[in-house]
Amino acid sequence: LREHEEFTKVKNIATIELGRYEIETWYFSPFPPEYNDCTKLFFCEFCLNFMKRKEQLQRHMRKCDLKHPPGDEIYRNGTLSMFEVDGKKNKVYGQNLCYLAKLFLDHKTLYYDVDLFLFYVLCECDDRGCHMVGYFSKEKHSEESYNLACILTLPPYQRKGYGKFLIAFSYELSKKEGKVGTPERPLSDLGLLSYRGYWTRVLLDILKKHKGNISIKELSDMTAIKAEDILSTLQSLELIQYRKGQHVICADPKVLDRHLKAAGRGGLEVDVSKLIWTPYK
Ligand code: ACO
Ligand code: ZN
Repeated sequence: LREHEEFTKVKNIATIELGRYEIETWYFSPFPPEYNDCTKLFFCEFCLNFMKRKEQLQRHMRKCDLKHPPGDEIYRNGTLSMFEVDGKKNKVYGQNLCYLAKLFLDHKTLYYDVDLFLFYVLCECDDRGCHMVGYFSKEKHSEESYNLACILTLPPYQRKGYGKFLIAFSYELSKKEGKVGTPERPLSDLGLLSYRGYWTRVLLDILKKHKGNISIKELSDMTAIKAEDILSTLQSLELIQYRKGQHVICADPKVLDRHLKAAGRGGLEVDVSKLIWTPYK
């Protein structure tokens, strides 16, 4: 995590306690002024309220009756559940989540206007409750066709495929809306790596099935990935040629196989049959 810390400006909170984890933070987050003298914060892992002292948290845990994020469980597959939280209906939760997330997001401006967002909180569930592993936020209405504003996998859960799961989930929602989507810019280095990995895997699989005989428009319709993102991904894989003023996909089977091998693990699948959701109106 060293490379992240170099970019840190005035990081006040150095560690947080969340559920069974103590987590070192990466970046500054604008907690209210009364927390300026703290270097450690104690979070309730369910309602995400934060406290200055362990004893306060222990007292809180005895009376907090949440065992999962507020809002609707819209997906369950084995021990993995996704909850949709409306920032307007659960303002404090939304704000707490933003404070927490900013500790790991460098470039994002924090929106206090959580009313305008939905939060998709991914949890691993057991008999003690549903433990958050990560989330993404999404504007209720986006002019720029953004289907994801911020994405985070909490550090103890990173590099296990949850990030790609969250990305895949955001595109499944876009498919249900009948829209194409793209993540809000700028992307962090880790964000770009994860998106590139996801786009590459999804597009290569389809190209292989169709033996390359497919257009960017058709790829976009099938995947809900915006055409520009498809083009940049295929360009980076050197699968695009420019002929007579047009971008043409040139997918030599041998080249596809080589890229597919390099693309690595597919990650955790989103089983769409387990998604019960209708678009926000
Ligand atoms: N070093 C190198 N590559 C990495 C690393 C790393 N530390 N972490 C992720 N990757 C790449 C890999 O290619 C990986 O695929 P692979 O494991 O198959 O090789 C791919 O990213 C995705 O890995 P996942 O395990 O699916 O993703 P993870 O759960 O770690 O979450 C995420 C990725 C959400 C970007 C996480 O790193 C994170 O929360 N970072 C901090 C917050 C952040 O930067 N968010 C994105 C901001 S941009 C935006 O919000 C629109
Ligand atoms: Zn609580």
